Amino acid sequence: MASFTANMKLLLFFGLVAFALADVARFDGELYLNILFPKRGLCCHLQVDFWSPDSEDLVTIDINVDIHVPARYLDMVYTILEQSGIEYEIFIEDVQSAINRQANSGASPRAHSYTKYNTWSEIESWISSIASSNPSLISKQVIGQTYEGRSMHLLKLGKSSGSAKPAVFIDCGIHAREWISPAFCQWYVKEALEKYGSDSEMTNLLNTMDVYVLPVFNVDGYVYSHTTDRMWRKTRSRLSGTSCRGTDPNRNFDAGWCTIGASSNPCSETFCGKTPESEIEAKNVADFIRSNKSTIKAYITVHSYSQLLLFPYSYSYGLAADHSELMSVAKGASSALTSLYGTRYTYGPGASTIYPAAGGSDDWAYDLGVKYSYTFELRDTGYYGFLLPESQIKPTCEETMLAVNYITSYVLKNL
Ligand code: ARG
Ligand code: ZN
Repeated sequence: MASFTANMKLLLFFGLVAFALADVARFDGELYLNILFPKRGLCCHLQVDFWSPDSEDLVTIDINVDIHVPARYLDMVYTILEQSGIEYEIFIEDVQSAINRQANSGASPRAHSYTKYNTWSEIESWISSIASSNPSLISKQVIGQTYEGRSMHLLKLGKSSGSAKPAVFIDCGIHAREWISPAFCQWYVKEALEKYGSDSEMTNLLNTMDVYVLPVFNVDGYVYSHTTDRMWRKTRSRLSGTSCRGTDPNRNFDAGWCTIGASSNPCSETFCGKTPESEIEAKNVADFIRSNKSTIKAYITVHSYSQLLLFPYSYSYGLAADHSELMSVAKGASSALTSLYGTRYTYGPGASTIYPAAGGSDDWAYDLGVKYSYTFELRDTGYYGFLLPESQIKPTCEETMLAVNYITSYVLKNL
């Protein structure tokens, strides 16, 4: 099968290109998107994979759209683009060869590395070895099983003390294809262990607080993105009455659940699920945070891509009670990040900074009482998108450390 695909950035200008996206249907797991041109009537059916925003439901006028177009639709898409005058830029000429270039070479298992995208089995063995090699600073526990029966390992970093310490909770890999995110959680653990005892900021943090790190939230999806579909986003759960699989875990939390920016169509990339916490992975995390809510002071969730630092709310345009404090911490964290390599971040409340989207873990944690609740969208801004090269893991993690350390230091100072 031909694998030539293109990743295009469509710039939709207000007033210039007035087309509507409608009539979305899926057959056998494929999305067929009808693009309606008002003057010409129905133009064509095509399946596209939305990279940004996360699904067709979130497309509005006057935003940039990154889509991954299957090879068989290329001619049709070029025709549409030319006829409609939509401005576009091709970022990746051939997505399949970009994926192949990043894929594991050879059949022999590679060793774990902080500067590559590790598989789940590499991450799982890394979790065991890192925990057992540093028993005074790190412990591990399993907070539950995934839909497909994999263990959700949680690491706890911190110098043990007699009494319960205030804590920070960090998760990575809610969305399967955002591979830079689990890479960051692994990097964070490495840095914490390396810096403890030499760097006063990290030493203070781990003496006074505990940092929980969930290296991979959506383990089943992560595995599937390595073995079968590099662009998989959701969980892998099944639902009766449809052949489409998976729920968007970041639409499945009980925070304005499925009211806006989420879909009740099981075939959508932003499917909110059958009920809040219908996904066992979301329920396991929510249960853990609920049972530790008296100690958890900050919640940080790591995604990619877009270079954003977001905070509540996303389910509403209303401002959070702690808006100005959350804003000033986001500002400080962003400028700390930028100071290293000049990477520019946009920060602000989710709804107005990107788009309203209910059911997110950040809004849920905030409404539970975890005041410092942040969502990172790491590098880049769409040039490589989810296919961020491994050569960018190190600089991305280094700069992100500065932002996360800024937030945790602020939390520590304001306990
Ligand atoms: N790209 C992320 C998502 O759509 C952004 C999350 C922001 N927070 C939120 N509650 N929507 O899942
Ligand atoms: Zn995400």
